[in-house]
Amino acid sequence: MQRYTDQYIGGAWRPSLASASVTVVDPATELALASVPAGGAPDVDAAVGAARAAARSWAATTREQRLVPLTRLRDGLAARQQEIAETITAELGCPIGFATAVQAAVPLAVADSYLGILAGYAFEERVGNSTVLAEPAGVVAAITPWNYPLHQIVAKVVPALAAGCTVVLKPAEDTPLVARLFARIVDEAGFPAGVFNLVTGLGPVAGAALAEHPQVDLVSFTGSTAVGREIAAAAGRGIKRVALELGGKSANVVLPGADLARAVNVNVGNVFNNSGQTCSAWTRLLVHEEQYEEAVALAAEAAGKYVPGDPASPRTRIGPVVSARQRERVRGYITGALAEGARLVVGGADAPEGLDQGFYVRPTVLADVTPEMTVAQEEVFGPVLSILRYRDEEHALEIANGTAYGLAGGVWAGDDASAAAFARRMDTGQVDINGGRFNPLAPFGGFKGSGVGRELGRHGLEEFLQPKSLQF
Ligand code: NAI
Ligand code: MG
Repeated sequence: MQRYTDQYIGGAWRPSLASASVTVVDPATELALASVPAGGAPDVDAAVGAARAAARSWAATTREQRLVPLTRLRDGLAARQQEIAETITAELGCPIGFATAVQAAVPLAVADSYLGILAGYAFEERVGNSTVLAEPAGVVAAITPWNYPLHQIVAKVVPALAAGCTVVLKPAEDTPLVARLFARIVDEAGFPAGVFNLVTGLGPVAGAALAEHPQVDLVSFTGSTAVGREIAAAAGRGIKRVALELGGKSANVVLPGADLARAVNVNVGNVFNNSGQTCSAWTRLLVHEEQYEEAVALAAEAAGKYVPGDPASPRTRIGPVVSARQRERVRGYITGALAEGARLVVGGADAPEGLDQGFYVRPTVLADVTPEMTVAQEEVFGPVLSILRYRDEEHALEIANGTAYGLAGGVWAGDDASAAAFARRMDTGQVDINGGRFNPLAPFGGFKGSGVGRELGRHGLEEFLQPKSLQF
């Protein structure tokens, strides 16, 4: 087991000022993989100090100057795709196939997209007798979760650096190893010292110290609603800008006339990939009452292809969830749903057969779920699909919009225009029309309780900019 004792601060790996450590566990074996420092306020203070010291000169660089190390960062991500995927498989338990195709490849696509966006962005605009400058927001605190651990780092750090901000990253305690790998790639890319800093540690200690630090100008957070609320409160007290991405309870609405089999198959993959630990997952499948039992049968058949197993095997489609705590949480939601009257189609709360070790959960499909049930209202963050029935389009819309969240969604219809007309009425930040694929240039973020602000694309860059007006 590797014991790391350093943090990346001010352009170098330095001994952590903390003596405590965090053990990183392989969710498939429950064995310790490594330990990293559990940084506290002194590490955070050193990192924010380094970011502050570098902020003015990095903000004064031209886009051409920033594009040089950012291009090397993109190239470093490209060169290390396999190591990235293997690291995420080890610490998250994500199957190697999905880790390669999504967990490693999407951050590369996002980093690549920002090279183009930065090259073309208008940092100056004429408005009447004013020139409006887009200036960097300053020192950014990035606090990231474990479910897409590199994607969430890249989606914050790369646009922040492109905007001319300096960054302190506090990654999730469950997945710090890919964050350390990212810091090595940044180091090799040759950014000036202090432009990017990494502090590993526990959320309530290192994360809280970072969010509250008076020298931080903007906090970008992805994670739970409870922590998001605390971070927004701390940002409010400090008059800091804040961006929050807090998950969802997204609806996939299949309108009569759609390709039902395709819609259901795509939905099952959407929820079971990454063991359901996807903030934008379509965890509620809404089907017309006349097609309901057909959809349940299709979902049961599709779910049969997801047999939990060793994430290191290229044949495995579903691995464990990230931690024992997450496993208990997911099992609790399954038990609760059955107690509230849901029908178990496949899966269940007990451990999958033959997998006594590892944080495994049975891929589960629930039918007869009604909108007021807990499992239809709260984010489970596990491989649990709920199927709900609707009477007509108005009823479907009411159910789709009837949660505290609004992050993503899907609509399927006989033609794109009718699906899009329905999507326009959904209170949510993203909707895929008839299976429309992920677009790294499209703004991603939540309506309602799903958060504040947007990531990815031009909108994601603009989160890290602030306007200044010069009047002539
Ligand atoms: P969490 O919100 O505790 O962790 C996310 C990040 O916030 C981690 O880096 C953590 O260290 C940090 N953090 C925790 N407490 C903090 C504090 N007081 N101040 C500053 N930073 C803090 O999420 P957790 O506990 O790992 O997962 C619980 C649930 O949250 C999941 O079951 C899921 O429903 C939701 N979640 C949503 C995510 C999304 O993509 N929107 C990602 C991860 C979790
Ligand atoms: Mg937590």
